[in-house]
Amino acid sequence: MKTMTSLRTLALGGVLIASCAAAFAGDKPNVVILATGGTIAGAGASVANSATYQAAKVPVDKLIASVPELVNVADVRGEQVFQVASESLTNENLLALAKRVAALSRQADVDGIVITHGTDTLEETAYFLNLVVHTNKPVVVVGSMRPGTAMSADGTLNLYNAVSVAASKDAAGKGVLVTMNDEIHTGRDVSKAVNIKTEAFKSPWGPLGMIVEGKNYWFRNPAKRHTNQSEFDIDKIEKLAPVEIAYGNGNATPTAYRAFAGTGVKAIIHAGTGNGSVSNAVVPTLQELRGKGIQIIRSSRVVGGGFVLRNAEQPDDKYDWVVSHDLNPQKARILASVALTKTQDSKELQRVFMEY
Ligand code: DGL
Repeated sequence: MKTMTSLRTLALGGVLIASCAAAFAGDKPNVVILATGGTIAGAGASVANSATYQAAKVPVDKLIASVPELVNVADVRGEQVFQVASESLTNENLLALAKRVAALSRQADVDGIVITHGTDTLEETAYFLNLVVHTNKPVVVVGSMRPGTAMSADGTLNLYNAVSVAASKDAAGKGVLVTMNDEIHTGRDVSKAVNIKTEAFKSPWGPLGMIVEGKNYWFRNPAKRHTNQSEFDIDKIEKLAPVEIAYGNGNATPTAYRAFAGTGVKAIIHAGTGNGSVSNAVVPTLQELRGKGIQIIRSSRVVGGGFVLRNAEQPDDKYDWVVSHDLNPQKARILASVALTKTQDSKELQRVFMEY
């Protein structure tokens, strides 16, 4: 990789972006790595610390230097967009990141984009980018479950795989992808299903493919609208709608829903038991909040391969509620926060939940 670098700082949406400005000078695909923090940038006190460490410590240039083999797959340059643990990312961070991804994707000298990210909310960021970034170029989100300082750290191979996929012509047009643990997932379906193993990320309908020794093996394509097929465009979004999630459980009360309503939310995602069931103690409150203009979206705390069926556990048509289909509560929140920037109509919202 032959690059000339000089550090320049960009301020975008109030977020400081330090960029190693570089003119790509190689003959391989040009891939930009946007670093946001997380465990892939983490550091532990000893090699035995595979789960005890500090996230968001290692800068993007050191991440790139930790995988010298990247030069065999792409000409790479890095930008440090944030340096945070992903549980602390905000809607404003998501907007700034998506705007940067969209701007880079329009550059003729950029062939693919990788975002290094904490695994806790990686699924939310990947889905958000899938909804609002209009590009056919590969955009790949990647993280790690162990810090680079640990024995059998997974970050270096995950990053190598992510850059390899981002540099691949056959990864174009598949929407935003997530590479973890040798698998290639769609950002729409994938979620963190295990909180402490390297095999942590699962898609209820399975991965799109695998990446092995720098080669992609595809087995299916995304079924829902994404990127260039999306009616949502990051260049036309300046603020996301406030949406919160309330968890369903036995002995339920309406307290959380009322508290959220008091903050001015535009929608509440009900992470219901079973098929998005709602306790008799909560139904009247949701009907009242719907009457006040708050969208009620029934999702489920049960994940892993089903979907919430409209008018099954609740008369959604009668109550004018929306169902999240197969989206888990955190993904339903992302979609609602985007869709509500364009429509307040519940029938339109339901269409969106069936199509994205
Ligand atoms: N604090 C978590 C995060 O940044 C660490 C988990 C990880 O990145 O794997 O998402």
